[in-house]
Amino acid sequence: MNKVGLIGWRGMVGSVLMDRMRRENDFADIEPVFFSTSQTGQPGPDVGKPVPALRDAHSIEALAEMDIVVTCQGGDYTGAVYDDLRRTGWQGYWIDAASTLRMAEDSMIVLDPVNAGVIRQGLSDGVRTFVGGNCTVSLMLMALGGLLEHDLVEWISPMTYQAASGSGAQHMRELLRQMGHLHAAAGTRLADPAGAILDIDRDVSEALRSAEYPADQFGVPLAGSLIPWIDRAMDSGQSREEWKAGVETNKILGRRTNPLPIDGLCVRIGAMRSHAQALTIKLRRDVPMADIETLLAEANDWVHVVPNEPAASQQQLTPAAVSGGLDIPVGRLRKLAMGDDYLSAFTVGDQLLWGAAEPLRRMLRLLVE
Ligand code: HSE
Repeated sequence: MNKVGLIGWRGMVGSVLMDRMRRENDFADIEPVFFSTSQTGQPGPDVGKPVPALRDAHSIEALAEMDIVVTCQGGDYTGAVYDDLRRTGWQGYWIDAASTLRMAEDSMIVLDPVNAGVIRQGLSDGVRTFVGGNCTVSLMLMALGGLLEHDLVEWISPMTYQAASGSGAQHMRELLRQMGHLHAAAGTRLADPAGAILDIDRDVSEALRSAEYPADQFGVPLAGSLIPWIDRAMDSGQSREEWKAGVETNKILGRRTNPLPIDGLCVRIGAMRSHAQALTIKLRRDVPMADIETLLAEANDWVHVVPNEPAASQQQLTPAAVSGGLDIPVGRLRKLAMGDDYLSAFTVGDQLLWGAAEPLRRMLRLLVE
């Protein structure tokens, strides 16, 4: 049985991963060894079978005993140990949630419902480093896999609506504190149906701009507002999040020498853990809507097409509808006024599941089965 070292299993993505692995009985097929950056020697978590005491996540020697390492510990950790571990001659598989190694020449970005063929080729070519993709990229590909697989897409422009979880657990907490702060600013007038809305709005707007508004994490208001920039600036004028859409998608699809242009704007909104995105898609030709819907729906087991109707869109195509689950609804499908080869789509998915943890546990399964 493969010895699998798990690092960062207590953090937000790690906890989602642990939950999914327990639910899918993944621990039955591996010999799990839990690592810690701070609590070496303490008992490991309950995974339904005995596990050794926690080992030191910074011990290269201990890591080198593993056949497979799965880390959700973050980029700094990867930066601190990965090269040293490989320098020992370690030939094991490294599966990582952090972006550090995503664009490395010898790594692959994993999203097997979309790129199983690319992964299989990589494995037979000797690739040993597998990294989960950026969340918006993975969620977009889960939704549009059917069109991409049939090479029907010329370019895509995604406009994202990204949840607080993409920034981390502390940011989710701050979003809720911000919501509470605004609610408190509205005061008792909110309960009074005759309370003048413009008075309430004035006080809420003041609270939004006041020095007391809790914004240590985001730096600016998110609740009651939005943030049209995610991650650092690139020389191209893109945010790094926007840059990832093109480079990561093409790496996932194995199209680095023949890339599809993919570029748009990434925006943080006040949702908790599900990212949504509006997509403008230039098709290579005028594909009939019925064919588009069939191809999208058949691409994998999690995507489903939502009819382009008001009630279905409002009820099924939202963070509220999908959070905590693996469903990837795609809807608002219609041809745009620019021409019959221009398609609109809207999709939403749980940023911590398909956007982070799920592709990692599925890659682990591919290796141990
Ligand atoms: N960069 C993403 C975000 C998180 O900020 O929403 C996960 O890839």
